[in-house]
Parts: sequence; structure tokens; C-alpha cells
Amino acid sequence: MPYIYLTGGKVTLMKQYRLFSAFLVTAMFLGLLTSCAAPASTSKKFVFASDAAFPPMEFVDSNKAIVGFDIDMIQAIAKDQKIEVEIKNTAWDGIFAGLGGGAYDAILSSVTITEDRKKTYDFSEPYFDANQAIVVRIDDATIMTEQDLAGKPVGAQIGTTGAIYLGDNLKEATLKQYDSADLAMMDLVNKQVDAVVIDTPVAANFALQSDQFKGKLKIIGEIVTSEQYALTVQKGDPKQILAIFNAGLKNIKASGEYAKIYEKWIGVKK
Ligand code: ARG
Repeated sequence: MPYIYLTGGKVTLMKQYRLFSAFLVTAMFLGLLTSCAAPASTSKKFVFASDAAFPPMEFVDSNKAIVGFDIDMIQAIAKDQKIEVEIKNTAWDGIFAGLGGGAYDAILSSVTITEDRKKTYDFSEPYFDANQAIVVRIDDATIMTEQDLAGKPVGAQIGTTGAIYLGDNLKEATLKQYDSADLAMMDLVNKQVDAVVIDTPVAANFALQSDQFKGKLKIIGEIVTSEQYALTVQKGDPKQILAIFNAGLKNIKASGEYAKIYEKWIGVKK
């Protein structure tokens, strides 16, 4: 190496040794620095199940992509927390069983926290408030209130809080349960049921916005069930997801990102 000759003329063996050890120390130090700078391991990856047939919360768009409020929210949280999340489109009926069986790490599917579900699952901090809405055909003049559902066939998605409410509180109505929200709406339009009870954001989307049902349905009222949606995990949170989700949710609320996502999908300011 030429610069050795510039500093000292003749290079002794001792000098060479010192230079070499200085070089070694420097190399080790640099090595230490780079290993600190690089991520200790590749970022954590989680798989979440979602019944992507619940617009505007989670649904499949015309490009066959899973989109919606929950999806944008979890992407913002994943970015904030430097984790990776994969969404697995999963039928609602059986979505809880799949979590118990370990088919995925959590459910992100507008799941309402209920006392009953709390016995079997753990929930994150709530991320969305909703009630139940009563949807009827646009030309219906017989159903004005919840009480008017008595004696009528009423639809709901199977095992949802809407179906549970009807079963518990409106025993005089004939409950008809459907695998998905849109099948219930379809049967409503086709006069197989006279009303559908479903989460407020989804009722508004189907009745007022969807190409399929717009102009055919109306919302006659809300049943105030004061529901809160949360990420759902196995009891004990074995994959340690809740702390990450909660921290990310807090951050995206503080940054204004949550409010943006709310306005984008719900159409009003939170
Ligand atoms: N919030 C209701 C419940 O927890 C309905 C959720 C349905 N979600 C869905 N993606 N289909 O029972």
C-alpha cells in the first residue's frame, strides 16, 4: 500500500503489525456498527382473516382487491409498527372457529366486542363505533319502527350481532339467517324477507351507495346497540398482536391518518 511509504519510509515488521491490528479493530468496529443498523430480524408478519363482503368496511373491489376501512386502517398501523399483515378472505360463518384452530393469527372483520365472545377471545382496543340499522324495501309503508317487525320475516347475517339482537329481543319476528350480508339484501329486494337488520355503516353502503341495491332499499331506523369493533385474537394473545395493534391505532389517531381513512370510507368526519 503506497501511503505506508509516504509516512515512514522503510516499513518495519512492527509497524506493519500495528497497522494491521489498527485495521482489524477498525474493521470490527465497523462490523459492529452495520450489524446494529440492520434490522435484528426480518419484520414480523401476521395473517388476519376478514369476510370481505361487508362494504365499506371490507370488500372486494372491481379489480378483485380486498379494500375498505379495516384494510386501510391495518395498512396504516402496519406501516407505523413496521409489521407485515396479510389479509385472508374468509367466510364469516366459521371465521371464529378458524381462529381457534390457528388458521390465522387474528380476525379483522368489523367484529363487535360482546360479553359472550370475550369468554373465548381477546380483543384489541375498540377502533370503530356502530349500531344496528333496519333496512326495508324503498316502497315499503308497513314497517316504520322496530316493533313493526313483529310477525314478519327478517333477515340478518348468520351469527352476527344483528342476528343475535333479533333472536334475543324480537322473538315475534321470524329470523332468517344468511351466509353473507349481500345475500340478505338480495332476498329483501326479492321479497323473501321484509327487513334486514345489519351494522349501520354497511346498511348505509348497501341502501344508499351500492350499484346493486341503490334506489331499491331504505333505512327506516337505528337500533342503538352501541357496538364497538375490535381486532380479535385467541385467548391469551399467543402471537402478541394486541400491544402492537393498540400502539399503532393510537399513533394513527394522533397523526390524523385514522380521521382521513374514516372520512374516505364513511363519508363523514369522525
Ligand atoms: N359487527 C357484527 C358482529 O360482530 C357483524 C360483523 C360482520 N363482519 C363481516 N365482515 N361480515 O357480529
